[in-house]
Amino acid sequence: VSQAPFSIGILGASGYAGQVLEALLLQHPAFSVQTFAGHAPSDLPQTSLDALAACDAVCLATPGEAALQWVPALVELGVGKILDLSDAHRRHHAFHYAIPELFGAPAQGQRLVANPGCYPTATLLALVPLLRAGVIAAEHIAVLGASGASGAGKTPNDVLHFCHLAENTFPYKVGEHRHIPEIEHHLGAPISFVTQILPIVRGMLVTAFVRPTKGRDAIAAALQSAYAHTPYVSVLPAPDRALGIRNVVGTHQAFLAIGPSERSGLVPVFASIDNLMRGASSQALHTLNLWFGLPAHLGLPAPQQPCDGAPRSYATLTSVLANAGANLASTSSETH
Ligand SMILES: NC(=O)c1ccc[n+]([C@@H]2O[C@H](COP(=O)([O-])OP(=O)(O)OC[C@H]3O[C@@H](n4cnc5c(N)ncnc54)[C@H](OP(=O)(O)O)[C@@H]3O)[C@@H](O)[C@H]2O)c1
Repeated sequence: VSQAPFSIGILGASGYAGQVLEALLLQHPAFSVQTFAGHAPSDLPQTSLDALAACDAVCLATPGEAALQWVPALVELGVGKILDLSDAHRRHHAFHYAIPELFGAPAQGQRLVANPGCYPTATLLALVPLLRAGVIAAEHIAVLGASGASGAGKTPNDVLHFCHLAENTFPYKVGEHRHIPEIEHHLGAPISFVTQILPIVRGMLVTAFVRPTKGRDAIAAALQSAYAHTPYVSVLPAPDRALGIRNVVGTHQAFLAIGPSERSGLVPVFASIDNLMRGASSQALHTLNLWFGLPAHLGLPAPQQPCDGAPRSYATLTSVLANAGANLASTSSETH
């Protein structure tokens, strides 16, 4: 019998994001986890519906269309905290949009939380502090995002076919990516946003080109000041191999860096994250900690130090979770 004080339910635990979330929760000292396999409330026996209703929080790691159906059903069941990892409610006024370092903790009485998308997380971490500080123009922001294939979920499709993607990279969903409205909504500025898929499983690198209003150094100062006390968002001294996707995969870390001014007057700002961790499930865990009044980083893998990206094996979830022990005893009162 679990001694954990809070019980978390997951719908969609057989998917990529759901599997990572379940693995994180299984290691967490204050959360027990229960998974539910039905595609609709009518698929579940009454005992499962009762168990769902008894959860302290339910996380939806389902497609957005499914989340649209599930949220009202969970509200009706009386679930007190609902965290949606899908894109269904990320611009909905009733949902707290949860990037802890940028938007703080959900209020204790908040019932609904929208976990941000992976590209939006990386892009907003890089750009929101710059717009808040007034050091870049809100116009002419261009963003290139490159992602591993797990960002598309487990259902095979033509783009993800091994013979198309292996040893290859190409743009996809140009001009119509579903993350554009979400980024623009939370950035408060229009963006040109293009994406390309990489022949790797997980991890993403975002490069934003911005026009400085007070010079390149003011951009660096604003970013460093915003993230001076955030162990899981680090500004690197230079945009080099330390930004490598291999250095963030399996971690909650976001690495940011700023390039030199280009001759065109634009400055590149970079962000790398693991789409399944900081871009989805470890960010959800970070938010659950804050929502339940626990230490912000309880159960997260230890923060990563920058390294030069020399060949090393991936920080697999297993080994990173072993690191989580360092945080399990944390008594940190960090609020982000
Ligand atoms: N992958 C990422 O990097 C990432 C990052 C951020 C956010 N997200 C979001 O997180 C959600 C899950 O993404 P994913 O990549 O894990 O997708 P996925 O691998 O395709 O998994 C989807 C999961 O949802 C379940 N599901 C499908 N329809 C359902 C329904 N009507 N009711 C309950 N469960 C249902 C599936 O169950 P079955 O196994 O039974 O089909 C599966 O467990 C998506 O909304 C996605 O946009 C994903």
